[in-house]
Amino acid sequence: MKLIVYPDYDTMSLNAARLVGAQVRTKPKSILGLATGSTPKGLYRELIRLYNEEDLDFSEITAINLDEYLGLGPDHQGSYSFFMKEFLFDHINIKSENIHIPDGLTINADQEMENYESFCDSMPRDIQILGIGHNGHIAFCEPADEFAKHCHVAKLKDQTLDANSRFFTNKEEIPKQALSMGIKQILNARKIIMLINGEAKAEALKGMVLGGVKPQIPASILQLHPNCIVMADKAAAKLL
Ligand code: F6R
Repeated sequence: MKLIVYPDYDTMSLNAARLVGAQVRTKPKSILGLATGSTPKGLYRELIRLYNEEDLDFSEITAINLDEYLGLGPDHQGSYSFFMKEFLFDHINIKSENIHIPDGLTINADQEMENYESFCDSMPRDIQILGIGHNGHIAFCEPADEFAKHCHVAKLKDQTLDANSRFFTNKEEIPKQALSMGIKQILNARKIIMLINGEAKAEALKGMVLGGVKPQIPASILQLHPNCIVMADKAAAKLL
């Protein structure tokens, strides 16, 4: 695991975009694993700029998202499918058939996750973008007594519901369950870029890199990945 600390969020996002951009230019058919949430917004903004101003071509890439709320479809403003369109996909030339996000409206969530797992296993990502939850989660692999190895239906922890309520009109509106990639699929990526910004994530970053590898801090498993870059801003790194 390599940790790089940047002075601020924008510099972190810019450098992450440079890495992703270099990957796509080197291999136009790259498979990118993508995350949602506040953290990668700067990265996506910068990728859109690279597309508009520096001819970065996304027409051959495949995008595979980490997760989706169970019960929300692409038309719901709180869904991750909506988020991805709003903050990235609607602004670049990715082909719609190359976009993969678990189906939040599935009527058989377990089957959906079984299918997503086979799909992810057959499509190892060239780069996986990750953010971290305040409680150390990655994707929706929440802290537990065992790592959530497989694609699964996750029961969201109160801390996660509280943190994500900002994307909804009120807390009651947030689905309590989500469809999530598992640790095994995340670790399957050739390169992982974990982005962490802000003082509120300082404890999570400290736990991820300095505590042992333990399922109570799911992100700590990244210590075992051979090619994981943690890009943090100064505020997030203040406890290191
Ligand atoms: C989202 C995801 C989550 C977030 C994490 C941090 O697809 O997988 O694990 O990365 O909850 O969210 P933000 O960036 O909103 O603090």
